[in-house]
Amino acid sequence: MCGITGYVGDRPAVKTAIKNLKRLEYRGYDSSGVAYSSATGIEVRKSQGKIANLESLIGAETDLSTVAISHTRWATHGRPNEVNAHPHKDCSGKIAVVHNGIVENYAILRQQLKIKGHEFISDTDTEVISHLIEDKLPASDQITAKEFLLATRQALKELSGSFAVGIISDYIPNAVFVARKDSPLVIGLGEGENFIASDIPAVMAFTRRVIVMEDGDCAYIERNSVDVFNLDGERLDRNVLDVTWDDISAEKGGFDHFMLKEIFEEPRTVRDTLRGHILENNRVELPEVKFTTEQWNHIRRITIVGCGTAFHAGLVGKRLLEQLIRRPVEAIVASEFRYSDPIVDDETLVILISQSGETADTLAAMREARKKGAHTLGIVNVVGSTLSREADAILYTQAGPEIGVASTKAYLAQLVALSLLAIYLSQDHLLTEFDRNKMITALKQLPEQIEEILGGCSHIEDLARRLSSHSCFFFLGRSYDYAASMEAALKLKEISYIHAEAYAAGEMKHGPLALVEPGVSIIGLCTQPATNEKMISNLKEVKAREGTITTVIRKGDEVPDCADEVIEIPITEDALMPVLAMVPLQLLSYYFARERGCSIDQPRNLAKSVTVE
Ligand code: G6P
Repeated sequence: MCGITGYVGDRPAVKTAIKNLKRLEYRGYDSSGVAYSSATGIEVRKSQGKIANLESLIGAETDLSTVAISHTRWATHGRPNEVNAHPHKDCSGKIAVVHNGIVENYAILRQQLKIKGHEFISDTDTEVISHLIEDKLPASDQITAKEFLLATRQALKELSGSFAVGIISDYIPNAVFVARKDSPLVIGLGEGENFIASDIPAVMAFTRRVIVMEDGDCAYIERNSVDVFNLDGERLDRNVLDVTWDDISAEKGGFDHFMLKEIFEEPRTVRDTLRGHILENNRVELPEVKFTTEQWNHIRRITIVGCGTAFHAGLVGKRLLEQLIRRPVEAIVASEFRYSDPIVDDETLVILISQSGETADTLAAMREARKKGAHTLGIVNVVGSTLSREADAILYTQAGPEIGVASTKAYLAQLVALSLLAIYLSQDHLLTEFDRNKMITALKQLPEQIEEILGGCSHIEDLARRLSSHSCFFFLGRSYDYAASMEAALKLKEISYIHAEAYAAGEMKHGPLALVEPGVSIIGLCTQPATNEKMISNLKEVKAREGTITTVIRKGDEVPDCADEVIEIPITEDALMPVLAMVPLQLLSYYFARERGCSIDQPRNLAKSVTVE
């Protein structure tokens, strides 16, 4: 997830584009860059790290420029260094491109372009776009704007994956060209000036009149005109939106907190994490994982390691992997792994899960595992992080930057990545084609099902209000539901400072039941048909001690008569139910903490990335 902005008009274009870019820093801050028109052609400035570093490179010499595009990067292909920072030019240096999205077929395009003599400087997928446009131009010194636009549309048609692009060129000296497919882009309309940005808040300092581009739209933007058309060049009419929100919550995209915004990004997160990994025949392809059949046949057991939410994702992964590959899988917290003299060797695959890729305990566990000869595989969100560089193989989650300390969308991305991995490792062995098709179909449906849950968030908000006087929570479940309960309890305790514990439902009567009395709240996850009957008996035992019971059930299943409150979620494969169950439970924690006036995005005593052991 990256952010892009652009400007055409009489203000200093570079400074205006960068000012708006700062509103998009939540979309990533690995590096940033700007391209602008100058008397001698297109100039580019880039810098690693936050946008402030780029700003320090910008002087008065840029003030005369009237056209600029800029970019803040969240690395997906290639390390987060200056070379890989956008904008990316073609060989001639006459075209500059900023891009948000993933060009899935970049490797093959790059290969083809190289054969034709194009020289690439970066490791990014984006760089193919500028070279591909160059490649489509007629062989002539006098290229018209019309020819350039035709070549650009033709090039974009060859890309698979997602893109929002901003392009400037010497061939269209007073204009910015934009296009989008599956990545957001808006055009801000001014008087004698126009803006582009990845989201509306980024242009709100200058205008509140906005065109929200739709998939397949392109636009040619000059200071006094905006022409929208499709990739075939046919003109389109798009409505102008008058934005009425206040500006304060702008960088949170209109949400009160990053946590809520990130929960609402979950459909996109799941889509992006699946993207490029499922072939047309429903086989899973994980090019980064690179396990030969011989290596895999040599693996006898798997150990999953992580901290906090990442460990909880591992608990779901343990069940899923065991179910599909039928080899022993253990999940262990990283701080325990290292000092337990772990039994791992060259017949062990150690999977390290981490959003940041920088958690000290997880890194130490990886090094310990490598020392003992194990194969290490990182499931990581941050490209270029230490874990992504040191593990033998990598599977990236595509959650984009997560700012809220309480992890939400990264957890869902980790579950999806683990599902892909489990299918990948079993599809040539025990997993039948029938079961593979079922799992893949279910994975593809998840984004829409999450959207459906998010659409009912006001029900969860009301529920949080009704439960807000409770000061002790138990989250109960069996099998997958137990694993999901662990994460749900963590969410509640870390942001609302309420005592919340997860238990395997069958364990309640071995001690914790003694704590149940009026005022104690029980959240019972009942999404697993195989164990639901027993689960409901356990909830009845709690009900008899006057606890308040909220059940999470699958839509269409009978509501248990012991339930005081019910959360219904859509049905998916049993192994994927934790993905859907977690969405309302994250929302419940969020609204609960908000009721209590807690510091949601930065809970007391906690940090997003724990780099000490
Ligand atoms: C901290 C964060 C948690 C996170 C854990 C592991 O405790 O507050 O949200 O789950 O670290 O972080 P990682 O980056 O390794 O996933």
